[in-house]
Amino acid sequence: MVKICCIGAGYVGGPTMAVIALKCPSVEVAVVDISVPRITAWNSDQLPIYEPGLDDVVKQCRGKNLFFSTDVEKHVREADIVFVSVNTPTKTRGLGAGKAADLTYWESAARMIADVSVSDKIVVEKSTVPVKTAEAIEKILTHNNSKGIKFQILSNPEFLAEGTAIEDLFKPDRVLIGGRETPEGFAAVKALKDVYSQWVPEEKILTTNLWSAELSKLAANAFLAQRISSVNAMSALCEATGANVTEVSYAVGKDSRIGPKFLNSSVGFGGSCFQKDILNLVYICECNGLPEVAEYWKQVIKINDYQKTRFVNRIVSSMFNTVSNKKIAVLGFAFKKDTGDTRETPAIDVCKGLIGDKARISIYDPQVTEEQIQRDLTMNKFDWDHPLHLQPMSPTTVKQVSVAWDAYAATKDAHGICILTEWDEFKKLDYEKVFESMQKPAFVFDGRNVVDAEKLRKIGFIVYSIGKPLDQWLKDMPALA
Ligand code: NAD
Ligand code: UDX
Repeated sequence: MVKICCIGAGYVGGPTMAVIALKCPSVEVAVVDISVPRITAWNSDQLPIYEPGLDDVVKQCRGKNLFFSTDVEKHVREADIVFVSVNTPTKTRGLGAGKAADLTYWESAARMIADVSVSDKIVVEKSTVPVKTAEAIEKILTHNNSKGIKFQILSNPEFLAEGTAIEDLFKPDRVLIGGRETPEGFAAVKALKDVYSQWVPEEKILTTNLWSAELSKLAANAFLAQRISSVNAMSALCEATGANVTEVSYAVGKDSRIGPKFLNSSVGFGGSCFQKDILNLVYICECNGLPEVAEYWKQVIKINDYQKTRFVNRIVSSMFNTVSNKKIAVLGFAFKKDTGDTRETPAIDVCKGLIGDKARISIYDPQVTEEQIQRDLTMNKFDWDHPLHLQPMSPTTVKQVSVAWDAYAATKDAHGICILTEWDEFKKLDYEKVFESMQKPAFVFDGRNVVDAEKLRKIGFIVYSIGKPLDQWLKDMPALA
């Protein structure tokens, strides 16, 4: 029986390994983590992450060929293949702070693998890492084992998106495996390919050299994020000219060379990957003497920041240039629908902007807890991606923020509503009831273009929809930079 161990029981490690266990009954999979609360949750009925379909997959395999444990060393020692899916956050201090990937967790995992191993192993980079990381990992593994154990490093980046992780893992667009172009490297690639080929068609499993696999992951995220920044840049021009961004992206996406996906204008992209990976890409370009290339990718982040600031400015300017002591209902805090994940969610920047203007905020999200929201609004930039954030911490609160148990409670007596996540339930609210309970004039700022703006205007709302023609009210009160 092939034994797999995955270090890191997070959004990637947990679902990916659960699907491997489900699809490969002859493989034994152990997912290990230093976070005791995380592993306890994986072993309970309340999994640590919300992901449609995940509960079902875990229930089918847990205790059979899927195990979650904090005994990291034991499972690493016993494994033939070790996946490493730990955090690779943005560095917060020192050389490259604010851009470079912090490989502290990766390096400590690699040193531990070298220490405890008593047999040859394939070590798989599942985390997103800077190109050339495999070379550094190889050095750590070979220089730290005196037992003559052989390690083969593979790069097998993960392309799943949250909210659709199980679907993406069941039917991936591609699985990418990079390895050394040596007989031992090819054999390792084949061993990993044999795992995936139990459910992924052969032609969808791509094999490349190590550096191409590592760089492809950063490139794919940069291209995806760039599409969103492109359409968001257009949304500002649409508002200035009377064009409608939904019509523009539909027309643009009809070109088969461009394609229709990933062209939804929004308050900005969030999530744990896009910003972090682009900053990392920028840093790598700078380190390789390519400032023009670095500058090009930096713009993707700049437009994303601009979009969030623009949204806050629009709210404040529409409401007579002040939101001081006004109640603003925030509907949705997660970075996208169908997840409870709030890492780098645009809601953090929007809420902080409104708090800075002294608004009172009432937040409702169907999947995000009050503790998480308060933690996000008090945490320093980039601190969220360090394992310590998974441990219980003493509560800190922002007094201007309250958390409501449904959208009606959040919007009661509010002056304005911001929709920041595209949860389906926000499309189906009884907006007449909501309007009745609000202060007047009642505003809706739709950061995800989910509501039927015309219908809401008929009820009496003043509606701002990203990239759509503006109400007369909004034209009369232009947002200032
Ligand atoms: P996560 O924070 O959810 O999980 C990482 C886990 O690793 C944490 O539970 C942490 O406690 C654990 N960990 C850290 N150091 C450890 C160590 N030395 N030993 C044991 N456990 C340790 O992160 P994630 O979202 O799963 O992301 C992991 C990696 O995958 C990152 O590099 C990320 O960029 C990449 N990635 C993420 C996604 C995504 O959608 N979240 C998609 C593709 C790739
Ligand atoms: C992303 C990549 O899609 C995935 O391949 C990679 O493995 C990890 O990073 P994820 O961050 O989970 O996945 O979600 P994604 O669906 O890409 O959305 C990212 C952000 O972009 C969200 O805030 C989403 O709302 C936003 N978005 C997405 C838009 O604003 N417009 C779009 O058209 C699409």
